[in-house]
Amino acid sequence: MHILVTAASKHGATDEVADAIAKRLEAKGFTVDRAAPADVTTVERYDAVIVGSAIYILQWMPEAHDFMERFKDELRAKQVWAFSVGMNGVPKHSEQDGSRVGPLLTHVNCRELRTFPGRYKPTLMSLRERSVARLAGVVEGDFRDWDVIDEWADHIASELSA
Ligand SMILES: Cc1cc2nc3c(=O)[nH]c(=O)nc-3n(C[C@H](O)[C@H](O)[C@H](O)COP(=O)(O)O)c2cc1C
Repeated sequence: MHILVTAASKHGATDEVADAIAKRLEAKGFTVDRAAPADVTTVERYDAVIVGSAIYILQWMPEAHDFMERFKDELRAKQVWAFSVGMNGVPKHSEQDGSRVGPLLTHVNCRELRTFPGRYKPTLMSLRERSVARLAGVVEGDFRDWDVIDEWADHIASELSA
């Protein structure tokens, strides 16, 4: 069983989530390739694809959109799991996301779309990003829950082994 884990990340938080998922699946005995969406040239060899993106202004990042567009035909025949990393559900931040990502996944056999809380560190951001983040009410902090992320990877592993 050969799995691709690919994720679009601007400031690294989503990359680390994808790394954790890949590591967990590898530990379960799967063969895992971990790549940036822009570096993927074919999905032919994979039995399953896990694709994720950070959310910026309600949307997946352009690289993730591009990945879904380039491989939409091939992905139809694969098992796909998708995840977003954003501030959806983080205290003080209003419920967002989801609805804008859904249309990207309608043409593939997506088993599940999960949203994980992310990390916002103003020191990593440009002035423009800080202004947008402030307007959007994004809360400072690292809200990633590694146990929840591992559990999701374990869930995928059990579905693939079933
Ligand atoms: C300019 C800006 C806009 C954001 N917009 C959203 C948003 O619309 N919805 C959301 O859930 N999170 C939003 N976030 C939070 C990011 O998704 C979160 O910080 C994420 O962990 C970033 O991942 P990355 O480090 O992989 O780029 C925004 C963050 C910034 C800096």
